[in-house]
Amino acid sequence: MNAYSICLLPGDGIGPEVIAQTAAVLKALPIEWHFETGLIGFGAYQATGTPLPEETLEKISRLDAALFGAVMTPPHLAGYVSPILRLRQGLDLYANVRPCRSFAHPTSRPGVNLVIVRENTEDLYTGAERVEDGGRRAVAERIITRRASERIVRKAFHIAQQGHFRKVTVVHKANVLRETCGLFRQVAFEVAREFPTIHLDEMLVDTCAMELVRAPEQFEVLVTTNLFGDILSDEASMLVGGLGVAASANLGDRMAVFEPVHGSAPGLAGLGQANPLAAILSAVLMLEYLGETGLAGRLYRAVEACIANNEVTADLGGSLSTTQVTQSIITSLNHGLG
Ligand code: NAI
Ligand code: MG
Repeated sequence: MNAYSICLLPGDGIGPEVIAQTAAVLKALPIEWHFETGLIGFGAYQATGTPLPEETLEKISRLDAALFGAVMTPPHLAGYVSPILRLRQGLDLYANVRPCRSFAHPTSRPGVNLVIVRENTEDLYTGAERVEDGGRRAVAERIITRRASERIVRKAFHIAQQGHFRKVTVVHKANVLRETCGLFRQVAFEVAREFPTIHLDEMLVDTCAMELVRAPEQFEVLVTTNLFGDILSDEASMLVGGLGVAASANLGDRMAVFEPVHGSAPGLAGLGQANPLAAILSAVLMLEYLGETGLAGRLYRAVEACIANNEVTADLGGSLSTTQVTQSIITSLNHGLG
């Protein structure tokens, strides 16, 4: 039996609930897990004075991977920096990966099997914003580097290879943003030469937003800059059930943090009604990252069965509680293993 040490980052709101459920599901697999817990979020800030203690960063760096729930960001707190941005930039988790695959359920469009690979460290998200002319002008700097573009496009091609996809689409707006998107686009075509068996396609971001709604089955792997990826990946998640089932991976070269796309859902916290599937599907991505592809497939199929049987929470039109969904998955895993 393989053994892994995982840093659990429950966070705030429904974060602790969905992470506890995910840990319970993972324990039903034939793997020896060593879980350590790290503080993150507003609760961590209230307890320690910082939303992301150094000790948490150290734990994530030291262990095999991390599984993160969600954090609440207080709206009116001067000087409060989101721990998510610090996590991604501090650990150089440069790739944000969000797969969207159809489920056999009325909330899913059929035929969708795509992966959005979003650059996670630069673009308009570096905090390079300023106010000029006595507050009459606000400026944000858009930074695109060759280095960051190369590594994200290469990551997208590797993901395409691993997932047996035949096409990568680079999404940009180089007709208007000639320098920044122009560089990203040019680098994409350069890197594509390293992968002769995979076709590189390109699409303008506005067209892509439209095509995702019109004919999502045409897409395989999409690679794009930070802001475009943020928006397109939320859009794409609605094709296959929405936030309750949207999973993501933040990948660096030596570290990885897996997290549901949703936030802390304060209105749901403590009610036992949060959908645990987004966190559980994030754990599927973690299993793949750890090289446990067989068990990842088994857990994915258990989630698929649960959704197909409509054993789901209210956000997907069902009537099950958080723990009932988890129990259904554990039962189907045990049958599969037995
Ligand atoms: P949210 O994702 O927490 O909730 C949006 C809507 O989806 C709500 O109606 C919520 O009840 C529902 N929802 C979310 N997750 C669900 C689940 N697992 N099962 C069933 N329903 C679910 O986003 P919102 O309301 O905009 O933000 C709430 C807090 O979360 C804010 O403080 C925000 O800053 C933070 N946030 C944190 C994120 C993270 O930790 N990665 C991401 C997005 C928001
Ligand atoms: Mg977002």
